[in-house]
Amino acid sequence: MAEIVVKNVAKSFGAFQALHSIDLTIADQEFMVLLGASGCGKTTLLRIIAGLESPSQGEVWIGGRRVDQLPPRQRGISMVFQNYAVFPHLTVFENIAFGLRMKKLPQAEVRDRVERTAELMHIEQLLQRYSGQLSGGQRQRVAVARALAMEPDVILMDEPLSNLDALLRLEMRAELKGVLAGSKTTTIYVTHDQVEAMSLADRISVMNGGRIVQAASPVEVYRNPAARFVGSFIGNPPMNFIAATSDGDGRYRVAGLDLDGPAAAGPRLEFAIRPEDMTVAPGGLRAAVRVVEPLGAHTLVTCEVDGAVFRAVLDSDLRIAPGDELSLVPKPDRIRWFDPETSSAVPVAS
Ligand SMILES: Nc1ncnc2c1ncn2[C@@H]1O[C@H](COP(=O)(O)OP(=O)(O)O)[C@@H](O)[C@H]1O
Ligand SMILES: [Mg+2]
Repeated sequence: MAEIVVKNVAKSFGAFQALHSIDLTIADQEFMVLLGASGCGKTTLLRIIAGLESPSQGEVWIGGRRVDQLPPRQRGISMVFQNYAVFPHLTVFENIAFGLRMKKLPQAEVRDRVERTAELMHIEQLLQRYSGQLSGGQRQRVAVARALAMEPDVILMDEPLSNLDALLRLEMRAELKGVLAGSKTTTIYVTHDQVEAMSLADRISVMNGGRIVQAASPVEVYRNPAARFVGSFIGNPPMNFIAATSDGDGRYRVAGLDLDGPAAAGPRLEFAIRPEDMTVAPGGLRAAVRVVEPLGAHTLVTCEVDGAVFRAVLDSDLRIAPGDELSLVPKPDRIRWFDPETSSAVPVAS
């Protein structure tokens, strides 16, 4: 059982505050992804949980034990870093066995665990090779195998796939998902790659400027962003936003359209819609087409609506050219609203 609880954790480096009052609970065996742009505090938070960095305030609990005063090795965790840190002068076998030997496990058990995890990561044929002779992808597998061999309650991974080329990253992502889904570990996985986050996570914590903006399932953060930032960070292309105004009758003017808005909201809101949530039909948003990009399965159309950039992902059978005027009808159940002052989502009362 390794539930992780982060309570009111903050971290300053001198005058710079890298983390602001983080509260986060990760369930036993959950796969949690910390997602955010470079510099938002992901690594700092992970290092505080690992014990490689101490928080300026707050508490960290793992498996019901307060650990923020304990050294890393007493926390029951394994870490996989971006620069995999495998020892080039050791064989793959010895790399995977490294932590097990430190723990002074019996020889037979070391061998057994190394062979099992190597098989899991498809590197059993490389066990006698020196790690310095391996490709990046193979070394990365060794790093993951070494972490798994420890049979930790918690695995922390910091951008473990970011040094791999695109194809290998996809392959390793699928493998990691398979391997970790079958294990009993609680995982925290740091990435700036939203597709990786969506594909791996049970839940995603979206971070911005040292804060967690939303922690929810991939579908939830995608469909119901808690803040404008989440809608614009997740999704490629991102959510579209248009300023909306109301006379107080519950109807909002959005680029010439008249739409039902949330009840009891102010005179100004932001209307939001994802690019794939519109159809070409009469009576919609008037969009001036600027760029048309056929992507095979769909066509990405970049337009101007109300003087701002606006993107639609449309059926690739449609004949659309730059200079066309389109009428884009938003799917009513996919429309979202945000408060322009706070950037928070304004729910539509149902
Ligand atoms: N040891 C440190 N000293 C000073 N500033 C740091 C230190 N570690 C991280 N920072 C700063 O804290 C912020 C968050 O860093 P980090 O957690 O590494 O971000 P991320 O992993 O999301 O890219 C950055 O602005 C970074 O420059
Ligand atoms: Mg980092």
